Amino acid sequence: MKSAKLRMTGIHFLKGEAYMDGVRLADIADAFGTPTHVYSRPYVESRVRAVNQAFGELDHLLCYSVKANDNLSLLALLAENGAGFDVVSANELERVLRAGGDASKVVFSGVGKQAEELDFALREGILSINVESGDELDLLEQRAKLSGLQAPVSLRVNPDIGVDTHPYIATGQESTKFGIALKEVQALMLKAADSPHLRAFGLACHIASQIVDDAPLISACEQLLRLLDGLGKLGVELSMIDLGGGFGIRYEDEQEFDPHAYASKIKQRLQGRKLLLVTEPGRYLVANAGVLLTRVVRTKLGKQRNFAILDSGMNDLIRPSLYQAYHHVQRCAPCSDDSLPGPWELVGPVCETGDRLATGRELEIAPGDLLYIESCGAYVSVMSSNYNARDRAAEVLVEDDGPRLIRRRECLADQIALETPFLR
Ligand code: LLP
Repeated sequence: MKSAKLRMTGIHFLKGEAYMDGVRLADIADAFGTPTHVYSRPYVESRVRAVNQAFGELDHLLCYSVKANDNLSLLALLAENGAGFDVVSANELERVLRAGGDASKVVFSGVGKQAEELDFALREGILSINVESGDELDLLEQRAKLSGLQAPVSLRVNPDIGVDTHPYIATGQESTKFGIALKEVQALMLKAADSPHLRAFGLACHIASQIVDDAPLISACEQLLRLLDGLGKLGVELSMIDLGGGFGIRYEDEQEFDPHAYASKIKQRLQGRKLLLVTEPGRYLVANAGVLLTRVVRTKLGKQRNFAILDSGMNDLIRPSLYQAYHHVQRCAPCSDDSLPGPWELVGPVCETGDRLATGRELEIAPGDLLYIESCGAYVSVMSSNYNARDRAAEVLVEDDGPRLIRRRECLADQIALETPFLR
């Protein structure tokens, strides 16, 4: 049996009605409309605790990967819970700072950092610039020299390790654009150590997303430690190792990543070393804290397939179209007498054949029904768009004292603001 409980601890049922942390999802839909993202604050906090406890005995900094969900309220609650952040643009850093995050707990990754972004990060006192190429290192040195600040440098290593995940989210193989090839790392770090404008700080990697078996992560850690030891022998003492994120979650029936098992293997490898350990999970902390509430606009019965047309589409949730990702879908309330059984194709209103959120789902459905789509806390609202001039969905955070709107639904005025005044 696919256990919904294991997948989505934020949701429970009472007399057939779905609740998140004691709040009825149907009430949230009535109050805020649909489609709406709903996130559980206690769930996010419990995940932060779980990761921090797992790495407890180590000098560990949890850097939430902002790209997974950059809503300011979520960032604020993560900052309140002591998290650092992994950012990939100056704007992400700005979001973190506005949310009350501390730049000295932020690492900055990404293959395309530009001069102004580096300047901003240095000015704010970033913990580490995770440099992804020799050219970037040169640029960083120039910018540090100009600003009179010493830049903390970590090299993001590409350890050339394959992971069993979707090819679009595998980042640790030499065929990808990410990181610095193993054979180039030593020379570049020696260069950094030689420069008065750079501070040789650490080694980093992020080999993939949605990893369920930690073996490749352990191999990557061992690779980094070998490089670190090699550099140590040459007199370059590094103080940080950043193993990236990628902790996999349960979308369907996957084995969820076990941070405790992973941490105990990492502890063995780091024993006796004085190193700050950084981890960068995104999805693990927020994906299953969130659901996308959506309503069935109408049904359309076909010869080959029956379609339930939802008020959310690929512009709201692109993962199924882009990665053939599975998201579990459930009803928010018991079905009515006019419901029809599955299998259903759950599609959106967008004019694309690929606008399909789920296929072959066995659900009882009637027009007007309220559904929720699971595992939508990460890489969903951040990847949404205005395609077909659709407004981006609202976002609601459920806290102990009830639901709070943390992003209002967009409206046409928001969409056209950047185009006005316009040609008529
Ligand atoms: N650190 C770095 C340097 C990364 O590139 C990423 C994700 C993470 C950390 C966080 O990975 P996580 O723990 O969330 O797996 N849009 C895709 C995911 C792309 C992830 C890219 N990098 C999806 O919807 O599955």
